[in-house]
Amino acid sequence: MSEQLWGGRFAKSTDQMINEFQASIHFDKRMYHEDIAGSIAHARMLAKCGIISKSDCTAITDGLKAILVKIEQGNFDFSVDLEDIHMNIEKRLTDAIGEAGGRLHTARSRNDQVALDTHMYLRREILEVQRLILDLQKAFAEVAQKNNDVIMPGYTHLQRAQPILFAHHMLAYCAMLVRDFSRFKGAYERCDIMPLGAGALAGTTFPIDRQYVAEQLNFSAIYSNSLDAVSDRDYIMEFLSAASILMVHLSRISEEIILWCSREFSFIELDDAHCTGSSMMPQKKNPDVSELVRGKTGRTIGHLMAMLTIVKGLPLAYNKDLQEDKEGLFDTIDTVKFSLAVYAQLIRGMKIKKDIMLKAVREDFSNATDLADYLVKKGLPFRQAHAVSGRAVHYCIEQHKWLEDLSMEEYKKLSGLFEADIYDAIKPETCVKNRNSYGGTSYEQVKMQILAAKNIFANEKKQLELYESKQIKI
Ligand code: ARG
Repeated sequence: MSEQLWGGRFAKSTDQMINEFQASIHFDKRMYHEDIAGSIAHARMLAKCGIISKSDCTAITDGLKAILVKIEQGNFDFSVDLEDIHMNIEKRLTDAIGEAGGRLHTARSRNDQVALDTHMYLRREILEVQRLILDLQKAFAEVAQKNNDVIMPGYTHLQRAQPILFAHHMLAYCAMLVRDFSRFKGAYERCDIMPLGAGALAGTTFPIDRQYVAEQLNFSAIYSNSLDAVSDRDYIMEFLSAASILMVHLSRISEEIILWCSREFSFIELDDAHCTGSSMMPQKKNPDVSELVRGKTGRTIGHLMAMLTIVKGLPLAYNKDLQEDKEGLFDTIDTVKFSLAVYAQLIRGMKIKKDIMLKAVREDFSNATDLADYLVKKGLPFRQAHAVSGRAVHYCIEQHKWLEDLSMEEYKKLSGLFEADIYDAIKPETCVKNRNSYGGTSYEQVKMQILAAKNIFANEKKQLELYESKQIKI
């Protein structure tokens, strides 16, 4: 007979191929720390409730700590015959300490155990993801502050629309990431619920104390329905949704970075250390990081779709289908963390080509709205002002001129309301300065946005410290 822990009911051992097919040890071993922390808390609770003896509890706790050291030193022999991380650890514990090890699984099932491990694991990883989001937010705010006088064309339909501050654009990215941060906070809150004690599905006949387990593991709440506790994967779907939205944001940013470092735009240049070349074309400098992040977004969305689809037709309570929750989750965690870390470097290393951006504003008509607004301020209804400005642009296109090039005489022909102050009103700096409505692109508003962002960062940091203090150390 093999090492399997459920051998009693069986006359034959599992077929080797089936064994490998159903095992999860090659991926769930990354939850070893949570599995051990959860088992220690469970054993202490069993002893406190008089379900196992104090000496068994000590033997179990010491044995588990020894296993932790072995795993961290790379001296632990993970066996596929033992299926998953839970049975690998339990079997090695029993091998080492004898009968007491066999008492650990009292009043517990792998169904509530795996749920506990995944909740704890995800709590830890959400903290890491949020840390990296905060750092990337800071990178955007730094770049905004350093380049607070750079003017660029703002776009709609990828057509030059109105002049904006480059800093305003960077702060828009930052604002997207602020929402991401808070989405992960929500995901954390729904993940911070303790499932252990649900047993396989129906609770247990032993007089357990779930509150005590929750306290030891710093959980804020306990699942109040045992069926729900072992069947719930909402917290994973929610994490994957937040991760997908975050990656969609990074992908949109990537698309702009890729455009901006093309020769056609030349608004920015990426650091040599953050690009790659071509094996054939000697002149190439490619924005691979942004392309890869854009590509990996597809992969993350795929994992969300997979998880939703896995759960969609499942009856309560545990079904082995649920084991499929982990690989996509782990891959998403790795992908998101790597993408965020790489992006913070990329953004901090970016060179801003101020003159080229300003030229793109000057040599176009993105001040046409300002021309119309000028007339409105002189009393003309906006609709009429819009028509005059449109005629001015049309005239300029025919004459191969820009709005700034028109003489006072030409302006007077378009409308008697134009006076000498029109030239100042359509300068890029004025267009930007005058958009001083709350949340607008003016120098003043952008300065306020940077101040507000610093406040937000301080609050986010406080939240991270709180989550950090809830991390379980063994
Ligand atoms: N490896 C399993 C999983 O990840 C653990 C739970 C197994 N439970 C069971 N009854 N087979 O879902």
